[in-house]
Amino acid sequence: LQQKWLDAVGAAASIDALEQVRVEALGKKGEISGLMKTLGAMAPEARKEFGARINVVKDAVTGAIEAKKAGLADAALDARLARETLDLTLPARPEYEGRIHPISQTIDEIIAIFGEMGFSVAEGPDIEDDFHNFTALNIPADHPARQMQDTFYLPPKEDGSQMVLRTHTSPVQIRTMLKGDLPIRVICPGRTYRVDSDMTHSPMFHQVEGLVIDTETNMSHLKGCLQDFVRAFFGIDDLPVRFRPSYFPFTEPSAEVDIGCDRSGGELKLGKGKDWLEILGSGMVHPNVLKNCGIDPSKYQGFAFGMGIERIAMLKYGIPDLRTFYESDLRWLRHYGFVP
Ligand code: PHE
Repeated sequence: LQQKWLDAVGAAASIDALEQVRVEALGKKGEISGLMKTLGAMAPEARKEFGARINVVKDAVTGAIEAKKAGLADAALDARLARETLDLTLPARPEYEGRIHPISQTIDEIIAIFGEMGFSVAEGPDIEDDFHNFTALNIPADHPARQMQDTFYLPPKEDGSQMVLRTHTSPVQIRTMLKGDLPIRVICPGRTYRVDSDMTHSPMFHQVEGLVIDTETNMSHLKGCLQDFVRAFFGIDDLPVRFRPSYFPFTEPSAEVDIGCDRSGGELKLGKGKDWLEILGSGMVHPNVLKNCGIDPSKYQGFAFGMGIERIAMLKYGIPDLRTFYESDLRWLRHYGFVP
């Protein structure tokens, strides 16, 4: 009997077949269970002897089933592992990581440098009215600077007035001063627009404006602040910085800032050299501008500056054509190290 069931267990090729064997042998109506039931009707002596023997058979078959079950489970696992093996020699699928756009990266660098000097960031709308973009900045209606800036005008409103795409970030100065929270120390990065397109101009570009208004601010603060900034931005400690008299309607006096460079050999190299390169406009805020914003020029003065972000990024990274910033060409981004 025992051998018959052990053989049956041995022959079971699956968990299901094994379960079938268990039911037939040890289940309620199984053969071994049936023999156990006959014990009750036996004489005590015979019961003792037969009971002991049938228990041996039962234990042997039960043990064999357990062992076989474990074996089948192992075999199933082995089969599954074999089926699901990974081929670690296959090349990995390429993964492309996003990166910060060079313009955003340059803006972040600028914010970090001025942040250390105590400046916070202010923003304003891209679509401006005439007052914020021109009039409040001391650029009256017939002022030639309006032509100078090649303005994009929006269609006239019912009252005849026209909104503009801001031609510079200077309207954000006006908005900040009109809020009246003095003193002021802000930079205003953002998009700006002019009707212009060539290697060094794009109809949409970026500027960063700076504005400081306080009770004792003078030209030497402007000079120190901008000299520290350009040296930090270009990472050249002894970069020559020159302030050249200039004109803006909203500053008086005004100065353009040049940095030293060397153009000999046809290549532009920033640093000590015999040449100069203009990089930003600046000046002491014109008293008319302060008055237009409700600030008393006899108590407060300040300085402002503005620069093109593409322009200084081109100089820092050696990029010859401004338009390439917006072409989203991965080869270009890789070439300048902006993408892995
Ligand atoms: N708004 C000027 C421009 O776009 C730059 C500037 C800003 C100059 C602030 C002086 C002061 O050219």
